[in-house]
Amino acid sequence: MPEEDTLEDMVQYKGWMVKKRKHGSVLFLDMHVPQFPGQLFQVVASKDAIPAQFDSLASLAPESAITVEGKLVKNSRAPTGEELQLKKYEIIQIPTEAYPLATKEHSPETLLEWRHLAVRGTTYQKIWLVREESIRLFGEFFHKNNWHAVSPPMLSRSACEGGSTLFEVKYFDNTKAYLSQSAQLYLEAMIYSLGSVWSLTPSFRAEKSRTPRHLAEFWHLEGESAFCDFDGILRVEEEAIVYVIQNLMQNKRMKQHILDLGGNVSYFETIKAPFDRLTYDAAVKILHKKNPDFKWGDDFGAEDERILFEHMKKPFFITHYPTAIKAFYVKEESNRPEICRSADLIVDIGELTTGGQREEDITAITARIKKEGLDIKDYSWYLDLRKYGSVPHAGFGLGVERFTQWITGQHIRDTIPFPRSARMTQFI
Ligand code: 4AD
Ligand code: MG
Repeated sequence: MPEEDTLEDMVQYKGWMVKKRKHGSVLFLDMHVPQFPGQLFQVVASKDAIPAQFDSLASLAPESAITVEGKLVKNSRAPTGEELQLKKYEIIQIPTEAYPLATKEHSPETLLEWRHLAVRGTTYQKIWLVREESIRLFGEFFHKNNWHAVSPPMLSRSACEGGSTLFEVKYFDNTKAYLSQSAQLYLEAMIYSLGSVWSLTPSFRAEKSRTPRHLAEFWHLEGESAFCDFDGILRVEEEAIVYVIQNLMQNKRMKQHILDLGGNVSYFETIKAPFDRLTYDAAVKILHKKNPDFKWGDDFGAEDERILFEHMKKPFFITHYPTAIKAFYVKEESNRPEICRSADLIVDIGELTTGGQREEDITAITARIKKEGLDIKDYSWYLDLRKYGSVPHAGFGLGVERFTQWITGQHIRDTIPFPRSARMTQFI
């Protein structure tokens, strides 16, 4: 027997028994305890140590909640590098029915149906942890650069990203309101208060299409900055993303979680700013070699973005889109009004961000709102921003689930605990 390396003589953990293996008179329990999220904690019980309780422990049902107490020793082969040698345990609760997710493999449908239980699995725990740390790092980046966190509303009177994907809600007596698609218009108001602002809010899109990158409810990380131009905002976007990725890669535990999830760690370690920039015109030329039917003025579909990424091989911005396919607030290029100062960041999974410079001129933006067929009355407060000290400004939005999807290599529906999409008529 190798000499034991005792860490603590008597410790106590509370958690859930995930699975167990019996080797003669020794029982190995894999537990999920809050102290080791994303990992299984090993407990070893020998018949000698707990003679009276051994048999009942050996028949314990998966997901039983228990308290375990014993000696903590080093074990390089255990998932957390340590194991508990059990001296006593207590039952907190034994499942009243067999746990439906006790076997190893489950179809995506089963995992969605039982999502309220599936969220406990170690794979999901790792995704939540990577997501949580990414959000924390984005916040840290903004904080270090003197951007202020603000809290925009989720109920609004006006569309930000076009009417077709609005969720309508009844607002008190006879008024209608919409669930926010983007905090952008409110962030534009807040730059006149705090200069550079950011927010993380749920955004809602009644997207009918079933795609691997759309949710009906997603978490939107958005930034907006006064006196910032088009180049300035693209620099903020690439610096923020590189900051988050580099810090994830330098965090041993995060890197291991991402590896375990199937994320391409060696590729992420090479990602650096600045990202390449490709104009829409140049992108169309590249695309024409593979998709001759694409016409100037069309928006890129998922397949087009895939072809372009295959050509570029690393994250890149497509800049200067046709004005007609972008929202009413984008700033037109003065010498070529048919294109605008809007850019999408394209990564391995397609579009990760949209950002750009906003139209700050009252006459130009009023004309754009009318041209889009929007009701000018709904935007009167927004137009006030162009009346009182209007300045050049720019901003962007990034979907947290898309970012997590990119980093972990998981399906978008698995990057958020309780996904919402059109196909789920009944949901948890
Ligand atoms: O490209 P979008 O629609 O741009 C805006 O909403 C701007 N107002 C943002 C801004 O400038 N403040 O959304 C921004 C990002 C997308 O690039 C994508 O990452 C994510 O939000 N996104 C979605 N993620 C999941 N499901 C959906 N249905 C999404 N729609 C957008
Ligand atoms: Mg977009």
